[in-house]
Amino acid sequence: MLKNKDLLGIKELSAEEINLVLDTAGGFKDVIGRDIKKVPALRGKTAVNLFFEPSTRTRTSFELAAKRLSMDVINFAIPMSSVVKGESLIDTALTVQALGADFIIIRHSSSGVPHLLSTKVKASIINAGDGTDEHPTQALLDAFTIREKKGKIDGLEIAIIGDIAHSRVAKSDIYCLKKLGAKVRLIGPPTLIPEKIQELGVTVFHNMEEGLKDMDVLMMLRIQMERQGKGFFPSTDEYAKNWCLTTGRLSLAKDDAIVMHPGPMNRGIEIVSEIADGPRSVILEQVTNGIAVRMAVMYLLAGVKR
Ligand code: CP
Repeated sequence: MLKNKDLLGIKELSAEEINLVLDTAGGFKDVIGRDIKKVPALRGKTAVNLFFEPSTRTRTSFELAAKRLSMDVINFAIPMSSVVKGESLIDTALTVQALGADFIIIRHSSSGVPHLLSTKVKASIINAGDGTDEHPTQALLDAFTIREKKGKIDGLEIAIIGDIAHSRVAKSDIYCLKKLGAKVRLIGPPTLIPEKIQELGVTVFHNMEEGLKDMDVLMMLRIQMERQGKGFFPSTDEYAKNWCLTTGRLSLAKDDAIVMHPGPMNRGIEIVSEIADGPRSVILEQVTNGIAVRMAVMYLLAGVKR
């Protein structure tokens, strides 16, 4: 059982709750592999996608996940809504709830927005990415993919590489993978790794070649140009020279290491196409697994007593 009506972050989940989501997603992965991909589990319920920032993977897979559970889905188009006339975020959420939303799936550029809404509405709030804080369903689908590919997470050596400082995916992944027993190391330039991050139980490498040695999983991150000012690194060419995952660098990890990326990718900056499209890449499987994991999250939240 999940304890809370909302999924705000991985920080608030126990290892047991995370494993429950992953196990439940396993069942839903079977469902979405069938000819008839729908189950009536949440028929009559309504999910609303409230995305204040762009998204391809998360918004689409939440929509598909809701439809696979037989829910009604509304994709709220912010530029066409009364938000542009000055309606407040809370009034928008209360309006969506008054229209019958059982789930409000929110992405916002400000950290903490899902937490604020969770205190204002009875609907389940699902954080689809808030500022530089958390992106919990991305971490859950990453963990699901690692477990599927490696058979376990406990004891694995996992490297997260790139712009850690601005990445909500990195933070949720660190919380999730540490709770499941992985050894997590962060690799990147000092300007893109927060100073006190070791307090989360991770190790830090500022040299790509040293950091990649003997890793089981490499998780590449996008440079978040939209969240950073200037000066974190001299140029994208210089960044690529030092931090791009190339075939030569990949050979430093274990022979069976897998390569992940939450997307969207900056090809040639953090990862070369040869690897992104190659046999060690599980990037598109992460996307597919996102549907099953988001089905599991909504199914389990629907069962929480309130
Ligand atoms: N991984 C991820 O959040 O991708 P989108 O921005 O396309 O949703």
